Amino acid sequence: MRAPYRVVLITGASSGLGAALAFAYAGPGVALGLVGRNEERLAATAAACRAAGAMVDSAAIDVADGPALGAWLVAFDRSYPVELLIANAGISAGPDPDSPGEPLAVTEHQIATNLLGAVNTIAPLVPAMCERGRGRIAVIASVAAFRGLPYSPGYCASKAGLRAYGEALRPRLSPYGVGVTVVCPGFFSSPMTDRWDGPTPFLASGERAARRIKRGIDRGRARIDFPWPLVFGMRFCDLAPALIGDRIMRGFHFHIRSA
Ligand SMILES: NC(=O)c1ccc[n+]([C@@H]2O[C@H](COP(=O)([O-])OP(=O)(O)OC[C@H]3O[C@@H](n4cnc5c(N)ncnc54)[C@H](OP(=O)(O)O)[C@@H]3O)[C@@H](O)[C@H]2O)c1
Repeated sequence: MRAPYRVVLITGASSGLGAALAFAYAGPGVALGLVGRNEERLAATAAACRAAGAMVDSAAIDVADGPALGAWLVAFDRSYPVELLIANAGISAGPDPDSPGEPLAVTEHQIATNLLGAVNTIAPLVPAMCERGRGRIAVIASVAAFRGLPYSPGYCASKAGLRAYGEALRPRLSPYGVGVTVVCPGFFSSPMTDRWDGPTPFLASGERAARRIKRGIDRGRARIDFPWPLVFGMRFCDLAPALIGDRIMRGFHFHIRSA
């Protein structure tokens, strides 16, 4: 199924890319389902989307809470059959600069949000979307999915898992008429990037990244990866002998400040 989408569900819609995508899809005749954690920011996104003419139903739910999220999604889908589902909610973190490992709780939290949270978002709606034989699912992974970065192991693991999940779903769901777009963006401006101490090569504005992602989704692209030099570099480090890839990766120093 291609654009225009009349029912769009977005997780992580209270900030950054999710909010920008919500604004981009909002308009008369469009129903939006918006999920985030922070009620105030979520309400601000919802109000702006309503002002643009959209019907909005929003819920402050942690995507890691599978049963609560699943119940809300299924109820929303009964009233507004979802045509485009964007699993965007995500967090980033990393080890302390002075310690070798990433604390277990920090890794677990990222996997619970970025990977299992996306699965919690997608799995409850797959049966209904396949039964209707139409719709599209987009997962927001990252270029970090292509190669582990030594300064954010949990984030890379969560995004590599999400990318693989989306790549697996695409051929599985296409016979049912449901498309899947796997999005692997590089750096764009957002509150998440504000906590990043280190280089941000080829940084895009949040608006530009959202426009590019929306255009790709609306055209029914299987993959959206950008910017190409960063995608190429990450893929090269994955394909190159480990010694070479590891050396390049070790030189890419950064630290993610806690939220
Ligand atoms: N920024 C980049 O350069 C970049 C690059 C590649 C990929 N990405 C990915 O793009 C996506 C959006 O990131 P962003 O940069 O827009 O970050 P952001 O501004 O921090 O927004 C993250 C969104 O996810 C929501 N969220 C986080 N944990 C959640 C949870 N447990 N349950 C429900 N909602 C949750 C946040 O909600 P609250 O505000 O309510 O906490 C917020 O709406 C993420 O998946 C990120 O990994 C970002």
